[in-house]
Amino acid sequence: MSNKIRLGILGGGGDSLIGVLHRVASSMYDSYQLVGGVFNPDLDQNIGFAEKIGIPTDRVYKDFDTLIEEELKLPETERMQVVSVLTPNFLHFPMAKKLLENGFNVICEKPMTTTYEEARILKDILDRSNAIFAVTYTYTGYPMIRQMKEMIASGAIGTVQKIDAQYYQGWINPIIHDGEKRAATWRLDPEKSGISCCIGDIGTHAFDMIEYVTGMEVKEVLADLNYVYSDNKMDVDGTVLLRFSEFVKGLIRTSQIATGEENNFTVSIYGDKGGLKWEQENPNYLYHLTETEPLKVLKPGHAYNSELSLDGSKLPPGHPEGIFDSMGNIYKGVARAIRKEKYHPGEFPTMNDGVRGMNFIERVVESHQKGNTWVKV
Ligand SMILES: NC(=O)c1ccc[n+]([C@@H]2O[C@H](COP(=O)([O-])OP(=O)(O)OC[C@H]3O[C@@H](n4cnc5c(N)ncnc54)[C@H](O)[C@@H]3O)[C@@H](O)[C@H]2O)c1
Repeated sequence: MSNKIRLGILGGGGDSLIGVLHRVASSMYDSYQLVGGVFNPDLDQNIGFAEKIGIPTDRVYKDFDTLIEEELKLPETERMQVVSVLTPNFLHFPMAKKLLENGFNVICEKPMTTTYEEARILKDILDRSNAIFAVTYTYTGYPMIRQMKEMIASGAIGTVQKIDAQYYQGWINPIIHDGEKRAATWRLDPEKSGISCCIGDIGTHAFDMIEYVTGMEVKEVLADLNYVYSDNKMDVDGTVLLRFSEFVKGLIRTSQIATGEENNFTVSIYGDKGGLKWEQENPNYLYHLTETEPLKVLKPGHAYNSELSLDGSKLPPGHPEGIFDSMGNIYKGVARAIRKEKYHPGEFPTMNDGVRGMNFIERVVESHQKGNTWVKV
């Protein structure tokens, strides 16, 4: 019998953006076996999709309540051990809550919930259980991001004094400027998405990334958001000033209307001895800047990288790592945690990251609504 971890998936059907990333990532280190799920709300479509990707259809259920009910009837040795929640945002909370309450480990897409309150409820439930819970801030799995984290921790750039993250996309342009499309997408519907579109979707990636690589916490935010049309309830662009302390500040610049931009996510951290810069669209290069030496470019797989970084490279140097590898590394860390093997806390984002992300979104919107004032996170 296979000793792979039995994985279920909620959402992520053939019509989804993110499903394929999770399926490929979960298969990357031969640790998981996809045994079933609810890939979309229609049973026929579910079954059709399961057949298409070649998994048995006996554990493809009509909805997530049925999934939990039926899986609990199975002996523990056959039951799903972990369930990935890849649905639109408003379903993350009810699904993750019920999964945790019934003893399943959970891998949840971001933003973790639609409100900070829901996030805190989930945390309370997790604290009372033995389950593993991961939030897929995907980009933290890149080898050169892990290297950045370890270099900052070891003092390679000295004391951090300036932080800048930019996350620019342009994909919402054809939607936001078309009244009908604007009303039809779940991402611009507060009932389905939560109170923010741009900050909730990509601002949280930048926020989590900054806290991940620096190990520091944002203490206060001041935000200016753009909704572009008066009938549009959700921000599609925003700038957030960050205060870590009196003398350490930064900013997050996000946009979904940066025309022509694809997934231009960059993070730059400057210390008193040097700087580190990374770009998601060229993720195999980590730039190390100093005042005294020429620019250094670090790449994955080389022995000069940290153990945490090297653990995320599967092949020798010169074989580029991409977004699938990054998510694969997160799944690898979760597999170690589920198997109670030793793992580094930097291997996957946790409930704490999810809760802080939701707090960030709400405080940013609050700051904007109060007329661009400083708000404590
Ligand atoms: N980590 C990342 O970088 C990243 C990138 C993209 C999306 N996401 C997140 O992933 C989630 C999904 O995003 P997406 O772009 O794939 O959305 P999508 O709209 O493309 O796909 C959503 C999927 O969920 C299914 N679904 C809807 N209701 C369901 C239900 N009741 N039961 C089961 N399945 C249901 C849909 O049929 C579809 O297959 C969102 O929370 C989003 O924020 C994360």
